[in-house]
Amino acid sequence: MPESQTPTGFAIAIDGPASSGKGTVARLVAKELRYAYIDTGSMYRSVALLARRHGIPWEDEETLAELAESLDFRFSFRDGAFKVVVNGEDLSQPIRTEVVGQGASSVAVQPMVRAALLGVQRGLAQREGVVLDGRDIGTVVLPDAPLKVFMDAKLVVRAQRRHTELIGRGIEKTVSQVQQELAARDHQDSSRATAPLKQAADAVYLDTTALTPETVAWNIVALARERGAIDG
Ligand code: DC
Repeated sequence: MPESQTPTGFAIAIDGPASSGKGTVARLVAKELRYAYIDTGSMYRSVALLARRHGIPWEDEETLAELAESLDFRFSFRDGAFKVVVNGEDLSQPIRTEVVGQGASSVAVQPMVRAALLGVQRGLAQREGVVLDGRDIGTVVLPDAPLKVFMDAKLVVRAQRRHTELIGRGIEKTVSQVQQELAARDHQDSSRATAPLKQAADAVYLDTTALTPETVAWNIVALARERGAIDG
């Protein structure tokens, strides 16, 4: 087991399917505890976006892995928002499109791409206090994290949440279209051979169908403090 696998501080691993609310909750938890927040989905999204810009097909595993290895990721909290800066460019907004989300899911299937990002993610987790969210944080990236959470919600509720978010960004789609796309992405993320979306055996399962992000976040903060997390 490489030494870098065990974070030096308190790490909170949050996994779950698309639109389970994990990003919103992870941000609230990180703000409350004053921890760093590493959105690993944004790393796969950045690879997909930059591949498209460079004309690299989302199926070209070797070239995608080379691209992933060449990227310098910086996560920060500035002007009240968490940002991801890749090779000096703030990609926080451009990576949030639906197309890039689908592309991220496609590039994330490829073992060489995952291997290229794994070391970076473990390196970024070497902080006093950190919250990571994704699909394989508790199972692969940080299997020794002192607190792992698996967040889930009914597909129809996740589709409604995503639909509301898209409407807010001026994107017109029906709820059933959004639901179909989410189901397809969940299937791709859970059925891949390498590091599929899966609940770690020792993760706390949270069904957020009927809960607000704040309620979920305060539960996680309470659990973290119970397990020895100290505010940053
Ligand atoms: O959480 P998100 O929607 O931003 O993630 C985009 C895609 O990236 C998701 O469909 C699957 C992939 N992903 C992954 O495979 N492993 C992670 N740790 C995070 C994201």
